Amino acid sequence: MTPTPAELYRALHRGSPGDLSFYRQACEGAEHILELGCGYGRLVQALAQPGRQIIGLDQDEDLLKLAARTESNQAELRWVCGDMCALDLEERFDRILLAFNTFYCVPQEQKRPLLESIYRHLRPGGHFIMDAYSVSQSEFSGIEQFCPPEPIVTLSLEAGVIDVFEDSQEDYDRKTIQVTYGFYAGQLKVGSQSIQHAYWYDHEFQPALKDCGFESVAQTLGFGAELTQVVITARR
Ligand SMILES: C[S@@+](CC[C@H](N)C(=O)[O-])C[C@H]1O[C@@H](n2cnc3c(N)ncnc32)[C@H](O)[C@@H]1O
Repeated sequence: MTPTPAELYRALHRGSPGDLSFYRQACEGAEHILELGCGYGRLVQALAQPGRQIIGLDQDEDLLKLAARTESNQAELRWVCGDMCALDLEERFDRILLAFNTFYCVPQEQKRPLLESIYRHLRPGGHFIMDAYSVSQSEFSGIEQFCPPEPIVTLSLEAGVIDVFEDSQEDYDRKTIQVTYGFYAGQLKVGSQSIQHAYWYDHEFQPALKDCGFESVAQTLGFGAELTQVVITARR
């Protein structure tokens, strides 16, 4: 049987090595957690523990269905379908998480308002924690296409082996990347998915978060051996 788009998405987006143990540690002592862009619940499931309330919010209903399927009874989990850019919850949280490049899914003009809204949804002393791939300011301009001839990864699914090919266009002036993944079982194309990322340079996070009112902002590179991710912890 051909995997659904949500199953293909889950197979392809597995997080960064070491990120789950980082977030577990960063959430120690937190009782009330919100993950924005929780996808199929990879991180929420890892954080579930008795006495904890966690909300996973995502705009993709099919990913949330996968998340709810593997629900744990150890914690009070809630899955909310919605747009994080229109976040307006009554609750205030000890931790708000934006993991694994999700910040880059938000268009440039909506990033500042999102950070301000995250600030408002934190309890005083609460932490906003995020990670996204690191980008240093480059001297390139214009548009560049990346289209590797080999699969970027081969997925072994119940339905069989699937090769994933990437075709990306980076716009250096707008700081955006349009990525299209093509999924192939042998010669047969079984799916395709496109993602639009709007990235920030590493040096843009700290001033923006301070402008939004965050009291202290720590920024590091990587979770462990791999230094691909900018990791931010900002305290309200
Ligand atoms: C790269 S995935 C990360 C999933 C999850 N955070 C993880 O670490 O496995 C980004 C997720 O953000 C969701 N997303 C993107 N823009 C969103 C928005 N405006 N509101 C809610 N969810 C959004 C996507 O549907 C996707 O599930």
